[in-house]
Formats: sequence, structure tokens, C-alpha cells
Amino acid sequence: ASRSLSSFQDHIITSRRILALLGAGLSASSGLPTFRGAGGLWKTHDVKALSTPAAFDADPALVWTFYLERIKAAQEAKPNAAHVALTELARKKEGFLAVNMNIDGLSRRAGHPEQQIHDIHGSLFTLRCTKCDLEIRPPDYEQYIHNLSQQSSITTSKLPRCHSCSEGLIRPGVVWFTESLPQTSLKSIYDWVEAEPTIDTMLVIGTSTEVYPATAYIEAARKKGARVAVVNIEQEDPSLLGLEEQDWYIQGDAADLVPTMLKPVIGDTMQE
Ligand code: APR
Repeated sequence: ASRSLSSFQDHIITSRRILALLGAGLSASSGLPTFRGAGGLWKTHDVKALSTPAAFDADPALVWTFYLERIKAAQEAKPNAAHVALTELARKKEGFLAVNMNIDGLSRRAGHPEQQIHDIHGSLFTLRCTKCDLEIRPPDYEQYIHNLSQQSSITTSKLPRCHSCSEGLIRPGVVWFTESLPQTSLKSIYDWVEAEPTIDTMLVIGTSTEVYPATAYIEAARKKGARVAVVNIEQEDPSLLGLEEQDWYIQGDAADLVPTMLKPVIGDTMQE
């Protein structure tokens, strides 16, 4: 996997079917924390107390306090040049599909075509009623978040209640540990993978590849002949990632590297 960035650029030009797995490293340059690297959320917070259904049942006010902070951080963040470059790639290549593990909404805000991205861990910008399963999106969404933000501290008595069934507790529309991923997204991705005999390129951007089943997509793409390009800030041993001679390990900040890697296809996108 010592292959150079320029050989990737030659390859991406002729790639028709491209699958991308997007992780927290993609949004690091937008100022949002990752999970497992230095300063990662799961290094500074107890994931079991904040990011599981049991945690929400036990202390919904604590979980809402944590997610309100992440919603505000995501609202203040801006898509970076990598989000923009991937959006441009989608516009230029209809055979490109992104599997997005990030819940920060930045790809969507960059304008990524909706049919070419799946938010498999949900999004901070959707809410759901725990009783009637109503999904709440903007603009209703804003009202709930505004009410929550008005409170100096979120107490159980002031937790958001569903305006539709009027009693269900509202929760963030994200996938917590032990929960299943959105079946519609999984089916769409499966159908895309199975739709044709080959996949040309698998982009793996800013992920520790520790979370299943996202990592299974790398193997699925490889089985379909894909050449894998890993983009990561860390210096990793490519062989540890199962990368082979025809693959790429491109080290550095995704916000810098992704626009350069895709340049032959997207040209010079404007810097965010
Ligand atoms: N550019 C590229 N890669 C980066 C950058 C950067 N600027 N900054 C960090 N990275 C890399 C880190 O080296 C690490 O390998 O991004 C990866 C982030 O890994 P994690 O923090 O584990 O995040 P991710 O892989 O997205 O986690 C997957 O786990 O906690 C759950 O639901 C959560 O979606 C998340 C999932």
C-alpha cells in the first residue's frame, strides 16, 4: 500500500462505482471531536452512561445535556473542504455512494445529494418520540431544541415531550450502542453493492474501522474488486489494515487530502 497519491488520482478518474465509508476524522477539521483518538469523546466521557438506550432510560436529562452540547457544536461547525469535495464527487459520478457514520449533518450541509449518502448512525438533526416513533425534522425540530436550550439545566420535569402523542419522551434521532442501524439504509446499501459485479474504489476516510457493520463494507467492496484508499491522520501500518499492494494508505488531514485526491475529477473546489 505504498502506492502514491498520484496513482490514486489516475485511478479515481476511471472509477465508475465508488463506495466511501465516512468517519469522525472527516469532520475533525471542522472542529468536532472524534471518539477514540486523542481528546476523543469516548476518552473524556463514559459512553455507557450517555450513548445507550439504558442510559437514556436511567437518566434522560443527563443524556439530553450531552447531546444538546453536540447539537450546538455541530450547528456551529462548518463543512470542510473534504465534505465539499465528496459532494462534488457525487455530482460528477452518479456511481458514488457514501456510507456516513457521522451524525454531525456536515455532509448534508455541504449539499451532498441525498440519494448518494446514508447516515447509518442517524443524525443530531432529527429527533424521535420514544412512544409513537414520530420522526421530527426541521422546522419542528428547531422548536424542541430551542425549548431545551432555554433551560439553564435540563431537568427531568422539563424534558421534551411529543407534540403528536403528547406524552412520549423525545430522544435524539441517533443510533446508540446496542441499537440496530436503520434497516432502510442497510437495504439500500446492500442493493447498491449487489447491483453490479464490480466496485472500482473503496474510500475509507477518517475512521478507526473499529465499529461493525460499517467495517464489513470494506470487505464487501474488496470482494467486488475494489482498490481501497485509506485516509487517516495517524501513521498506521497498512498491512495491519489488510491493505494490499494495489491499495493506498494516504496519511494526513482528510480536509487537506480528500480535495487533492479527487482533484482530477472535481477540479479545484472552492476552499470552505
Ligand atoms: N483526518 C483524517 N483522519 C483523522 C483526522 C483527520 N483530521 N483526525 C482523526 N482522524 C482519524 C483517527 O486517527 C481515527 O482513526 O479518524 C479516526 C476516528 O476514529 P473514531 O474516533 O473511532 O471515529 P469513528 O471511526 O468514526 O467511530 C465510528 O463509533 O462511537 C461510535 O457512533 C460512533 O460513528 C461513530 C463510530
